[in-house]
Amino acid sequence: MLIAVPAETQLNEKRVAATPETVKKFIAAGCDVVFEKGAGVAANYPDSAFVEQGAALADDFSATCADADLILKVRSLNAEELSRLKHGSTVASLANPFGNPLLQAYADAGISCFCMEMVPRISRAQSMDVLSSQANIAGYKSVLLAMEHYQRFFPMLMTAAGTVQPAKVLVMGAGVAGLQAIATARRMGANVEAFDVRAAAKEQVESLGAKFVEVAADADAEDSGGYAKEMDDDYKRRQAELIAEHAAKSDIIITTALIPGRPAPVLITEDMVKSMKAGSVIVDMAVEMGGNCPLSEMDQVVVKHGVTLVGITNIPALMATDASSLYARNLFNFIAPMLQDDGSLQMNREDEVVEAALLCVDGEFLKPELLPKGEAS
Ligand code: NAI
Repeated sequence: MLIAVPAETQLNEKRVAATPETVKKFIAAGCDVVFEKGAGVAANYPDSAFVEQGAALADDFSATCADADLILKVRSLNAEELSRLKHGSTVASLANPFGNPLLQAYADAGISCFCMEMVPRISRAQSMDVLSSQANIAGYKSVLLAMEHYQRFFPMLMTAAGTVQPAKVLVMGAGVAGLQAIATARRMGANVEAFDVRAAAKEQVESLGAKFVEVAADADAEDSGGYAKEMDDDYKRRQAELIAEHAAKSDIIITTALIPGRPAPVLITEDMVKSMKAGSVIVDMAVEMGGNCPLSEMDQVVVKHGVTLVGITNIPALMATDASSLYARNLFNFIAPMLQDDGSLQMNREDEVVEAALLCVDGEFLKPELLPKGEAS
């Protein structure tokens, strides 16, 4: 089987879908791996590191794509990238399933596509879970971004010039990204509070040494898949009052609240921003889905009402080396069970992990609910 690894084309994307470590494993499993020149350079993996592990560098990468059986990518394919692939080939990548206008074009190109965002969050698939591996990185880096823009200390310091009070950090949404943000802010010595609609998050938040801010609710907000459900209006009103109270006292707010496929809930209103001290920082990780704060702007750092709002959509790419390393391992762990002794790929459609991630197979689109209405084939 020929595996092709392209350079990423999306703006600011520095990650690469395979690393020397995973190339070695694919080659040991009987595959050939061909890279586009420079594909790993932005993530600090030079071409020579791949060649040392047995990969080839393509002189004509378009021809490689036209031959390849499996294409490993980070970001979804654009129309030009789709047009290069041969019918019957397979792609494994992020596919932006809730906002990708080219989904039907994937099927029309006659390819099979594994959408890595749709790998279910079950125990067996943890090592394949790209959303978790990347959100973990983003949660960590979000705190570093906040620190960069905050002009005060995070830890409490007792100095000869007097005592410096610790920063007060509020984390909204205690999923993968939020929990790592809490842990990182705690390591830096900040006082941390966190808020989540799922009652199950309380124990996790407290185990990291943060305080859980709780809205009393009649029903739990967790669905059977472990994700949050949409809450009723009364809950939202009480939630807003509580958040307003805590936001006004916070120096840093990191927001990660989202229900997959939905616009981000507005949790930090303009009035709440106005109530914060000058020099406070908000890192809005949900900015791509509209933002948890309506004042944050996509891929911009802006100052409004004296508060710095950081709205970076691709935080993992700011740590491209580790982000690529973990993403590439996730891909290998996902593909490896499908590799046969002769190095070919055999999909087991009975496997719930494979079936959940499979967007289209040999030209047939399998998840019509993701297509804009009227486009289902
Ligand atoms: P997750 O699903 O593990 O966590 C989201 C958490 O938000 C859940 O615990 C959920 O219960 C909570 N939540 C949902 N609605 C809420 C509400 N109204 N109030 C309070 N909490 C609420 O997701 P994960 O993997 O931690 O990612 C979090 C967010 O970060 C997502 O929006 C994701 O798109 C974004 N993200 C952004 C990145 C960036 O570079 N900007 C990188 C990675 C993730």
